[in-house]
Amino acid sequence: MPGQSLKLGFSHGYWMMGAKVPFLWHPDSVPHLLISGITGGGKSVCAQYIVNQLLDTDAKLSIADFKAGGDWDGVVPDYGEYLECDKVLKAFYDAFLAAVKGKMRHEKYLLFDEFSSYALSKDAKGFKELMGMVSHIAFMGRSFGYHLILISQQFNAKVIDTAIREQFGVKIYMGSTISTESAAMLFPNCQIDKASHLPAHCGYISLPEKELDALMDIGQGNAGITLLCPAFLLHPHAGRMNPLI
Ligand SMILES: Nc1ncnc2c1ncn2[C@@H]1O[C@H](COP(=O)(O)OP(=O)(O)OP(=O)(O)O)[C@@H](O)[C@H]1O
Ligand SMILES: [Mg+2]
Repeated sequence: MPGQSLKLGFSHGYWMMGAKVPFLWHPDSVPHLLISGITGGGKSVCAQYIVNQLLDTDAKLSIADFKAGGDWDGVVPDYGEYLECDKVLKAFYDAFLAAVKGKMRHEKYLLFDEFSSYALSKDAKGFKELMGMVSHIAFMGRSFGYHLILISQQFNAKVIDTAIREQFGVKIYMGSTISTESAAMLFPNCQIDKASHLPAHCGYISLPEKELDALMDIGQGNAGITLLCPAFLLHPHAGRMNPLI
C-alpha cells in the first residue's frame, strides 16, 4: 500500500518522559528491514508488532521461520518452516521476477526469521543461489514493492555481504548490550557506549532518513519498566544531529 508507514517502536528517551513518540518505517522509500539481537532480546516480538500493522493493510505477507519457534504459526497462509522455507522464498522470488518482467508493482513482504541459520545450513551452491535471490530483491525490490524483513541473531559477513547489508536502510538491534562485532556490522558510523545496559526488550535503531541524536541519559537506571511494545534507545550517528520528529 503506497504511502504507508509502520511503527517500529518508541523512542526510549521520550518514553521515559511519558510521551510515546514512535519511530516510523516508510517502506516506499526504505524497502527493507533488518532485525538483529541477542537470544530473547525481543526480535520476534518486535517483528510481530510490525506484522500486526501489515496485516491491517492490503500488503501480502509471506513468512519463513527456519527454526519454527512457534512465533509465526497461523499468522498467514503463505508460511513455511524448516526446509519449507525454500519453497516460500522461491515463490516470493518468482513473483518478484514476474513483477520485474511485467513491470508491475505489488506490495509484498517476506519476513524471514532465523535467516542466518537458514543461510548457513546451505552448501556452497545453495548459499550462492540464496544470495543471488536476496541481493536481487534487496537491490531492486523497491521499484516493484517487494520488501524483505530479515531477522537473525547475527548478520556477519559470512551470512550477508556488506553490499547487500547496506540495502537494509532500517536496522534494529534488540538487546541490553551489543557486542563490538554487531555494533561494527550494523551501526558502523556510530558510537555506542558498550558499558551501558538498556532495559530488557529495548534496543538500538538506525534509520537512514534522519540522523538522530541520543535522547536519553544512558547512565540512568531504568529497571522495572514493563514495556508493552518495543522501545528503542536512539544512538547518535556520526555527523549531523537532529532531534527526532
Ligand atoms: N516489548 C516487550 N515487552 C514485554 N516483553 C517482551 C517484549 N519483547 C519480548 N518480550 C518477552 O521476551 C520474550 C522473548 O522475546 P522474543 O521471542 O521476541 O526474543 P527473540 O529475540 O526473538 O529470541 P530468539 O533469538 O530466541 O528467537 C518474549 O516471549 C516475551 O516474553
Ligand atoms: Mg525469535
